[in-house]
Amino acid sequence: MEFLFAPMEGVTGCVYRRVHARFFPGVSRYYAPFFSPSGDHHFPLRGLRDLLPEENPGVKLVPQLLTNRAEDFIWAAASLMDRGYGEVDLNLGCPSGTVTAKRKGAGFLLLPAELDAFLERVFASPALRGLAISLKTRIGFAGEEEWERLLSIYRQYPLARLIVHPRLRSDYYTGPVHPDAFAAALEGSPFPVVWNGDVFSPADLEALRARFPSVGSVMLGRGLAAEPGLAGRLETGEACRRETLRDFHEAVSEEYRAVLYGETALCHRMKELWSYLILHFEGGEKHFKRLTKAKSWAEFHLASEAVFAELPLLADARMPGLSGYINNIRKG
Ligand SMILES: Cc1cc2nc3c(=O)[nH]c(=O)nc-3n(C[C@H](O)[C@H](O)[C@H](O)COP(=O)(O)O)c2cc1C
Repeated sequence: MEFLFAPMEGVTGCVYRRVHARFFPGVSRYYAPFFSPSGDHHFPLRGLRDLLPEENPGVKLVPQLLTNRAEDFIWAAASLMDRGYGEVDLNLGCPSGTVTAKRKGAGFLLLPAELDAFLERVFASPALRGLAISLKTRIGFAGEEEWERLLSIYRQYPLARLIVHPRLRSDYYTGPVHPDAFAAALEGSPFPVVWNGDVFSPADLEALRARFPSVGSVMLGRGLAAEPGLAGRLETGEACRRETLRDFHEAVSEEYRAVLYGETALCHRMKELWSYLILHFEGGEKHFKRLTKAKSWAEFHLASEAVFAELPLLADARMPGLSGYINNIRKG
């Protein structure tokens, strides 16, 4: 089984990725959080930096673009090819209201004819010859009946892979997953289909394999953010050691310290990380509050040290608020 690290805006930027890749084996490709190319065809330094090969040593990276304009996708993807990238992903899943209002991300799914025309231009573009293009998609905006049309559009194009987060935009991240929609994507697919969503433990993976034995790739997001060693554990059965986790945390914070301006920015960035890491510790609520209230790096560091010193690690991270189908099939 191949494991891909899902893009997570605000969490899995280049600093996180390169440290993660140094500490934890088992991830075959990291997908970068989305970059939105602007109409003036200029890479802002901030967006570009995250994608520079020299900022991503040891990381097999796939950049992701968020746009509904073929000319902007072609320009940005061609620039990424020039920088050595062989694959680029299109975001068709972002549920944020500001994004979908512009009919980008999951909002683009509301315009199937325009999406078809977009893909036709992109795949016909001589500037992108040789580039592998993947789509990361939800199964619709508001109703599962949208999926059939979307799937028939996708199947007209030579996608490198179709990554399916089998939720609707209206499900956001915690509504029910729709395994039947995934089954439809898999059936007779001309390209590899990747499962994404709610895999947080070996039991989740087993349940998925039992239902979809032909799936060869799984994309992991929140599960990996909560348990950075999850891909390795899924592969070998061995959990990562607490010391490794602590060293990883230390290394990420050191690297952020070197590039972020000021302690507030550093604490803010590390809080994002801890909002996932804490889910892997037993009874972390009080400690997490202490982390979020820290006013200086010294306070923050003490609070994080207390987590490592005082809290037992859970066998599997606990995701709050999920009613995933994997949980249901595990219950029988
Ligand atoms: C904080 C956060 C940021 C995310 N950012 C992106 C993004 O930039 N691009 C994208 O395609 N998906 C993004 N996602 C969605 C994840 O990549 C993934 O599809 C989703 O979390 C479901 O997978 P999981 O259950 O393994 O977490 C984000 C999700 C979260 C929670």
